Amino acid sequence: MTSKKYNNPRGTNDILPEEISRWHNIESDAHTILKNYGYKEIRTPYFEETALFARSLGTTSDVVQKQMLNLAGAAAAKMATGLGAGDSTESAEARDGLSLRPEGTASIVRSYIQNSFAHKEGLSKFYYIGPMFRGERPQKGRLRQFHQIGVEAIGPESFSPYLDAEVIALSVRLLNAFGLSGYKLKINSLGTKDDKNNLSVILRDRLCNDLSKLCQDCQDRFERNVFRILDCKNESCKKVVSQLSLGEDHLSPESRAYFSKVKEALTLLNIPFEVESLLVRGLDYYTHTVFEISHAGLGSQDAVGAGGRYNGLVQELGGDPKGEIGAIGFALGIERILLVQPDDQKKQASGLDAFIVTLDSEGKDDAYKAAFKLLNQLRSNGIAAEMNYNRASMKSQMRLADKLQSRRVIIIGEDELKNNYITLKNMQAGTQEKVDSNEVINLLKK
Ligand code: HAM
Repeated sequence: MTSKKYNNPRGTNDILPEEISRWHNIESDAHTILKNYGYKEIRTPYFEETALFARSLGTTSDVVQKQMLNLAGAAAAKMATGLGAGDSTESAEARDGLSLRPEGTASIVRSYIQNSFAHKEGLSKFYYIGPMFRGERPQKGRLRQFHQIGVEAIGPESFSPYLDAEVIALSVRLLNAFGLSGYKLKINSLGTKDDKNNLSVILRDRLCNDLSKLCQDCQDRFERNVFRILDCKNESCKKVVSQLSLGEDHLSPESRAYFSKVKEALTLLNIPFEVESLLVRGLDYYTHTVFEISHAGLGSQDAVGAGGRYNGLVQELGGDPKGEIGAIGFALGIERILLVQPDDQKKQASGLDAFIVTLDSEGKDDAYKAAFKLLNQLRSNGIAAEMNYNRASMKSQMRLADKLQSRRVIIIGEDELKNNYITLKNMQAGTQEKVDSNEVINLLKK
């Protein structure tokens, strides 16, 4: 019987060792830049109560309706209620259960409330880097496990159009640091909750004569959540939507003035943008400024990042009875960044400082043992080093050193052992020298 071959689940990727340096570069640039902008890293669990996501993103959003990855089974239900094994009491939370996080914002707001950040500071600036999970149909740039770099600025002192502009500018700054160019920043304003209601009335009014041309899903969305029609990928829906022209009619004078200031501040920072009145975003929590950054190199899933304001969410999740806590944030998709990153950013440098080659005569292993000990000393001193674990010819050891792009090769043979030195080859310069065995670590540490 042949044994079953296992593959990674559809819509997930193994990030292989040869790809990891590109991830490290992005992550380390992100840590540096985000700290520079005053953001502090936060790590929340990879799963939360399903109800948290439903409440935050909206029960009619595609993510909640179609893409939530539930942790199924009795154990998950027990985890949701905090009950121990063997206790079979059922509760509402247990039935809703737990889900893998489809995005970061809901969890961060949950943590913001739970840890009483509003009492500690006027503006809390968080960032996160990590995996998100959505049960979507996989295609290029659309995965079931993907990674985001996200920021969330939350607090009673977050109500400033300059913060909106700064957050947008930060997303652009990150993409530039990752070497991206040719992307497009689109912005729009949904306004307050009341303005959003106005917008849905205007949209229904403009769409009602074309209802029969919309797909069945969109006909359902017309009453339940008319905004979702604007994101529909169905060709005939797209055609109807493309003929719509929406302006700023839904916005109150205050919301319009706020949006004007955001645009003015972006211009002040020399950030090119386009106002896209059809941009509404697929998650319910957004108010006021929303934005999306697209890249033509990505094909149909062209958003490399997106975000916006969500002034009502802290209150919606029970954290702000007076309704005075605002927030804004964004998330960038790392896999999509990698898809459009130019070639010169893809090159990886080898991290190997030295490779040890050993030459023992038949039946002996003195050089091998000395090399094994030196390897350990080199690594303890912060020098990245390797050697062959199998006895191999000089030629094949040199070949491996070459493959690993080691900057130096240390040769230990019988003469070296007898006279207490090693032969050090500099692979870049092509030079070779004898080095006292006691000096080799100091020399390589320089
Ligand atoms: P989102 O637009 O759902 O927003 O996702 C943000 C970014 O994550 C997308 O622009 C894309 O680059 C990446 N992304 C999303 N879904 C996938 C997928 N299935 N496969 C690969 N990449 C994907 C949010 O998640 C909001 N939480 C952003 C935010 C933060 N708004 C305010 N604060």
